[in-house]
Amino acid sequence: MSRKDKVFDSTDPVIRAFEFNENVAHVFDDMAERSIPHYKDVQEMVTTLALTFYQEGSRIYDLGCSTGTTIALLLEGLKEHGLEDYFIRGIDNSAPMCREAQDKLLKLEYDRKRVVIEEADIMDESIENASVVIMNYTLQFIDPFHREELIRKIYKGLNHNGILLVSDKTLQSHTDISRIFVDNYYNMKRRNGYSELEIARKREALENVLIPYPISEEEELFRLCGFEAVDLFYTWYNFSSFICLKKG
Ligand SMILES: C[S@@+](CC[C@H](N)C(=O)[O-])C[C@H]1O[C@@H](n2cnc3c(N)ncnc32)[C@H](O)[C@@H]1O
Repeated sequence: MSRKDKVFDSTDPVIRAFEFNENVAHVFDDMAERSIPHYKDVQEMVTTLALTFYQEGSRIYDLGCSTGTTIALLLEGLKEHGLEDYFIRGIDNSAPMCREAQDKLLKLEYDRKRVVIEEADIMDESIENASVVIMNYTLQFIDPFHREELIRKIYKGLNHNGILLVSDKTLQSHTDISRIFVDNYYNMKRRNGYSELEIARKREALENVLIPYPISEEEELFRLCGFEAVDLFYTWYNFSSFICLKKG
């Protein structure tokens, strides 16, 4: 049962940098649904694309898996398609997020030895025999200095015809347009019940923690790291989802 996000509903004069701590993990599903445009639709698209490119006997990685929402959908889809020889690895460096993911998955029926949720930094983990790597709203939290190293590692660990699916908050090519898109984004948050105070406090807490790239730079990064085909599969104002295919 999803608990309501009230993390930034406070008048505490100190606004701390955003962290995926116990308080956030506890309400994360509600936070994601009310703060990420079309969160459920994107999850479904990611699952459909993952199942399209999944190769039997290979691994699926969910980097920054949070509460395991994507993994739960993947398990459902793999079952529907009668695919049984998979191995899913969810990695997150937040212990409370990993606990939430484990609790969510405990409620599902699947072969327990085929899914591992690991508390680790994705920069330290190896990627092997992967046909699908998912990074839903996680790359934006990785230090820009380390993004190229991470994407190169993912490319190396993917099999031929494997895919990387990335969703992120993005910037536009001109600040005037970025500003209008961000205004529309905050309007969406207002419609979803967040107050002006909550919006302003979260915005400040995310400053220098969530670092978005312009769409063109993010696409360029994927190409630079080897991906032969890079496309958008979803975009809504300042949010975009990319599919990156390895042909080499
Ligand atoms: C916005 S959430 C991801 C949401 C999730 N993928 C989904 O679709 O619901 C970002 C996640 O990335 C994790 N994270 C950030 N940096 C990380 C790192 N260096 N290594 C592992 N996990 C990281 C955070 O703990 C957080 O759970």
